[in-house]
Amino acid sequence: MKRLYLQEVATRDGFQNEATFIDTADKIAMVDALSRCGFAKIEVTSFTSPKAIPALRDAEAVMHGIRRHPGVEYTVLVPNVRGAERALGCGIDEANLVMSVSEPHNRSNLRMTREQSFAQLREVIEVIGNSRVAVNVSLSTVFGCPMQGDVKEDEVLGWIDRFAQLGVRGVTLCDTTGMAFPSQVQQLSARVLARFPQLQVTLHFHDTRGMALANTLAALQAGVDRFDASLGGLGGCPYAPGASGNVCTEDLLHMLTLMGYDTAVDLDQVLAASARLPGLVGHATPSQVLKAGKRLDLHPIPQHVQTLSRQVVSTLTEATQ
Ligand code: COA
Ligand code: ZN
Repeated sequence: MKRLYLQEVATRDGFQNEATFIDTADKIAMVDALSRCGFAKIEVTSFTSPKAIPALRDAEAVMHGIRRHPGVEYTVLVPNVRGAERALGCGIDEANLVMSVSEPHNRSNLRMTREQSFAQLREVIEVIGNSRVAVNVSLSTVFGCPMQGDVKEDEVLGWIDRFAQLGVRGVTLCDTTGMAFPSQVQQLSARVLARFPQLQVTLHFHDTRGMALANTLAALQAGVDRFDASLGGLGGCPYAPGASGNVCTEDLLHMLTLMGYDTAVDLDQVLAASARLPGLVGHATPSQVLKAGKRLDLHPIPQHVQTLSRQVVSTLTEATQ
């Protein structure tokens, strides 16, 4: 069984987009529940400007409140040096830096040019320096930008190269608004893995156009073994038109488990955690497996079928007498 690494992002990518403010205690309880599920990494929150992302303005309190589980890495999104300093004060395992490979999306999301972002992130990497904190860079709109359209593969590889030269541990290829399609995913993933064998490469899909599971299969075929997913399929970037939920953790996990992959994540515990989400966010989630149940969650045979079966048996018995 091939080992895959699942990274849960609901409390960051999911909660950042919710209209209702989720209480700090509820966020902490949710992270603690996720910690018991077996994820390789949990993206807990983000240390962004509280004006830009008010839903996560309690990042310090959440990070200080959670109970760390051995074997789980706790990562947080960091947009600038100020965010890095705040995050470093909270004992994070990894800082997840973010910039977009598309100029208009970067300006919309981070209010600066890509070059300004790169310069800031280089400073962030210097601040984190030789501490035990790992650095990952999430590159948004890698498979297409809702304002610009396609982003050239070579340009994406160029940005990865610049960060690789700064010594980051990993990169995440983000399909911020669900523009990726399987053959594109397979081709870019294969190129990235071949050119940067030293990097931890994560794929981050949104299901905006229903292609997230298909894209995951394409990435698996290219050799990717690390995926972000969001409990209940929550998620979306408030600064990307048309963005909607991430690939749903339980739907992805259900598929991968059926296919025989070893994720170390417990589906029943994930489903139990997901069932608590509507109460927190105040609306139903797009989770399919939560609605339909697992593939072999069988239903009782309806009474009329049993009656019919008995009639068939007695007719057959009479006929043979
Ligand atoms: N944490 C807390 N406050 C921060 C901050 C941080 N990381 N970065 C900036 N601020 C504060 C500044 O202190 C300043 O506060 P003031 O108005 O009270 O003086 C205010 O935010 C504006 O600061 P400025 O440096 O001008 O930043 P900006 O307004 O250009 O915002 C970002 C830049 C990147 C910090 C902001 O756009 C952001 O946090 N975006 C979030 C992006 C995101 O997470 N998107 C979704 C996920 S991809
Ligand atoms: Zn996302």
